[in-house]
Amino acid sequence: MKTIIYNIGKLVGILPEGVLKLEGEAMGHVESIENAYLVIEDGLISEFGPQNEELSPAENVAEATEYIDAKGGYVMPCFCDSHTHIVYAGCRDGEFRDKIAGLSYEEIAARGGGILNSADLLHETSEDELYRQSMERVNEIMSMGTGAVEIKSGYGLTVEDELKMLRVIRRIKESSPITVKANFLGAHAVGRAYRGRQSEYVDLVCNEMLPRVAEEGLADYVDVFCDAGFFTVEETARILEKAAEYGIQPKIHANELEVSGGVQVGVQYNALSVDHLEKTTDAEIEALRGSGTMPTMLPGCSFFLGLPYGRAKDYIQAGLPVALASDYNPGSSPSGNMRFVMALGCIKMRLTPEQSLNACTINSAYAMGVSDILGSITVGKKANLIITKPIPSLAFIPYSHQTPIIEKIIIS
Ligand code: NIG
Ligand code: FE
Repeated sequence: MKTIIYNIGKLVGILPEGVLKLEGEAMGHVESIENAYLVIEDGLISEFGPQNEELSPAENVAEATEYIDAKGGYVMPCFCDSHTHIVYAGCRDGEFRDKIAGLSYEEIAARGGGILNSADLLHETSEDELYRQSMERVNEIMSMGTGAVEIKSGYGLTVEDELKMLRVIRRIKESSPITVKANFLGAHAVGRAYRGRQSEYVDLVCNEMLPRVAEEGLADYVDVFCDAGFFTVEETARILEKAAEYGIQPKIHANELEVSGGVQVGVQYNALSVDHLEKTTDAEIEALRGSGTMPTMLPGCSFFLGLPYGRAKDYIQAGLPVALASDYNPGSSPSGNMRFVMALGCIKMRLTPEQSLNACTINSAYAMGVSDILGSITVGKKANLIITKPIPSLAFIPYSHQTPIIEKIIIS
């Protein structure tokens, strides 16, 4: 099957083969071609370039070829969302009221709400129903231009419920057209039955959850919420040590609530990404230099919880890469709209539209281990593409962030 997209006003996000992430100054550039065409064969980008002549189905009739008229719109790679918790049951709209009334994220959690509230709801929900609710969110983010998503467990907090979540993620992987990576986040909070026995809960994660998860091949990555009031650096190291025995690479929640040491322990264990980073000092920037770990910031969480925004510009200035992701979850970021994330990158973190687009595509693809097959317009990559209505510029995408500009989404 061959598809030809023609009359592309601007084809943006082009990268040569082999570029897996963009760092420092390179983040400020987005390669594009005006008046372009692009060919998809068997779900992959097989060819693209300037469209020098009129191209339309009538003049180029070939069998089994589909023609898509982009009508002067932009064509760009789909967003990659490298950090989400979209498998959850129900929602936490009650806590939203507490939050508005002035309670902090930590205060809500300390009262037994927060993640534990979601764990209770998940426990009462069947696997089928959890899949149904989660697929609604998968379809929602896909319609907003997300072509790859990482999904974490972490609302189970018992062996059986963590496995239930991860099996739902596997089902999404098998049934959804978008690319999905699964992340085991057993250490998201201490399960209710282990209240006051945190170290024993860490033992449970290491000695019972991880072996089962590995045995069933349910996780691409392992995660720990390494932060004040959650898990310590030592506990994180214990879990990562164990995960390494099973060959599971970490991605870490770090420095959301406090400067936690999570970045350093992540780098030490070769984490693919360290995420959140709302609270960071120069020491974290230093720790990341020369590592393969992608600093990933979640401005939707800063927006929703009223936290500081990550210091993305300082990271880029230091020659580092930065990725942005949605953190879509019921407690700290109930939105998976990556275009809004891209807009927050510009408006709140003062990234240029080019830097913010790269952070939401190629670099977030790297942060979930798929930048060899997604995240840019490159021959051989999966054709997960957004076609927009005609727009005046790349900046228009984050600038006019509520205007519905998506004309069509192509997944493979
Ligand atoms: O990334 N910080 C930890 N985990 C999620 C929030 C989870 C929740 O509140 O349900 C986050 O923000
Ligand atoms: Fe998160």
